[in-house]
Amino acid sequence: MTTKENIEIGIIVALDENNGIGREGNLLCHLPNDLKHFKEVTSGHTVIMGRRTYESLPKGALPNRTNVVVTSNAAENYPGCIVVRSVEEALTRCKESEKIFIMGGGQLYRATFGLADRLYLTRIHHTFSDADTFFPEIDFDEWTLTEKEIHDADNKHRYPYTFLTYRKK
Ligand SMILES: NC(=O)c1ccc[n+]([C@@H]2O[C@H](COP(=O)([O-])OP(=O)(O)OC[C@H]3O[C@@H](n4cnc5c(N)ncnc54)[C@H](OP(=O)(O)O)[C@@H]3O)[C@@H](O)[C@H]2O)c1
Repeated sequence: MTTKENIEIGIIVALDENNGIGREGNLLCHLPNDLKHFKEVTSGHTVIMGRRTYESLPKGALPNRTNVVVTSNAAENYPGCIVVRSVEEALTRCKESEKIFIMGGGQLYRATFGLADRLYLTRIHHTFSDADTFFPEIDFDEWTLTEKEIHDADNKHRYPYTFLTYRKK
């Protein structure tokens, strides 16, 4: 894909021990610090999401970011978003961006995993038996860990979690 040159592509995802990421159109659990982390990492940049993930956002387009929604139905109009029909079109439309973040969900992660230069994982230290959407298997031999921040569970976070950042080797 020629459009990728000069753009840093990060994938950002919160996943359980079994790579589960969602259930019935929603996240698996509420981790306020993860939402804060997501905001810190992505603010000022471009976020690309699948149509279902857009529909899961409580207030629609995310502020302070260029929002791109991928859908096969280009007639759709999502307020505050650029609507594209493919990942390639998303990258073409974002070629002025320095950094873009793929923010899910499962279908979009599968379609873009091979393009990513960075992974921003929040590993939730729990396995949700009712997860119905999953992140692809990660071969960690292909990635160098650059940051790691461990958090215990507390009264606002039911499960312990770790922020992990990787760079593609
Ligand atoms: N844990 C996390 O970090 C995280 C992050 C985001 C989302 N999630 C969860 O993931 C779940 C949603 O994931 P999902 O896999 O069901 O849906 P999704 O990837 O968000 O959206 C799927 C839709 O996006 C469009 N799409 C995706 N890839 C495309 C491609 N290559 N070309 C054209 N269109 C494409 C299609 O829209 P059309 O059908 O309109 O054509 C497709 O039906 C929810 O449970 C959500 O809460 C979790």
